[in-house]
This record gives sequence, C-alpha cells and structure tokens, in this order.
Amino acid sequence: MKARVVYESLWGNTAKIARAIAEGIGPEARAVSTAEATGDVLAGIDLIVAGAPLLAFGLPTEAIRESIRKDSGSAPSPPDLSHPSMRAWLEGLPPGEGRAAAFETRIWWSPGGAIGAISRGLKRAGYSPVAKGRRFIVTGKYGPLRDGELDRARQWGRALAQAMA
Ligand SMILES: Cc1cc2nc3c(=O)[nH]c(=O)nc-3n(C[C@H](O)[C@H](O)[C@H](O)COP(=O)(O)O)c2cc1C
Repeated sequence: MKARVVYESLWGNTAKIARAIAEGIGPEARAVSTAEATGDVLAGIDLIVAGAPLLAFGLPTEAIRESIRKDSGSAPSPPDLSHPSMRAWLEGLPPGEGRAAAFETRIWWSPGGAIGAISRGLKRAGYSPVAKGRRFIVTGKYGPLRDGELDRARQWGRALAQAMA
C-alpha cells in the first residue's frame, strides 16, 4: 500500500504530525510538503492523507498567507511559505482513484475548521474517504503541539493502514 501524507505547514507543527502519521502507516508511507507532492510522487498512490493548519478559522487562504508574509507578528520564527497552500495544491491535484483522509492542526477551542475543505478537494479529484478527519491540537498560536499529539498521530496512521488492508 503506497501512501503519501501531504502537508502545508508554516511553523512546523503540521509537518511533525504528518511525519508521525506516515510512521504509523508504515514503511511505504512518506510525508511530503505540497511542493514535493507533484504528479510523479502521486502516481499509483493508494492513500493520500492531507493536512493543514487552521488559520483565521479555516483552511489558509492566499490572502491570509500574504498578510502573514508581510507581517508575521510575534512569531518565534519566520513562517515557511516556500511551499504552496493546501488550497492551491488541491486545485491542481490530478484525478486519482485512491482513498483519502484529512487532518488539521489547531487550538482546541477555536471555531471553524479545515478538514471539510480538504476532504472536499480530495473527493473532487476522485479520492474517496477512508476515515473521518482528525484534529491535532497545539497549545499556543504558533505551537507547540500538546503533549501526546505525536502518539495520537502515529496511532491514527496505524488505524488508517488497517482500514486500507
Ligand atoms: C495568524 C494565525 C491565525 C491562526 N488562526 C487560528 C484559528 O482560527 N483557529 C485555530 O484553532 N488556530 C489558529 N491558529 C493556530 C494554528 O492553527 C496552529 O499554530 C497550527 O498548528 C500552525 O501550524 P503550522 O505550525 O504547521 O504552521 C492561528 C495561528 C496563526 C499564526
């Protein structure tokens, strides 16, 4: 079973979760940024797991990314805007026949969500859902991840692999 865990991540929290999910899925899974997840990397893929942070209550828009690029406020480190937004990646995702799952990183009490928009994008490209989306929690605006979230991500990866078997 070939799997790719695709992420958008400005401060690294979503990337860490993506790598833990890939570990949980097993040796045939790899975590890749939206820049790396291009045509060849996705050819013949059985499972795409895609995730992004919740920014301003939803899947990051180009406008939000641009405002962060201009002013990243009190961020402890510069944002990584070198890879495309999950939105842009989903719009360019070539048709496929595999299965899919979506995740988001967020503060636990926030309204809104990114999982719905990611799931719809994956479905539009032909990837049918294998599991309900998963939220992973950070403790502050820029992270870090709450204790135990990487373990939860590995466990979810294992559950996805089982659901695909
Ligand atoms: C500008 C900005 C807006 C944010 N808006 C929200 C929000 O609306 N809801 C939420 O739960 N978290 C929000 N967060 C927290 C991020 O979702 C969280 O830090 C996420 O894990 C960042 O992922 P990354 O490190 O992969 O970029 C926001 C963070 C920033 C910097």
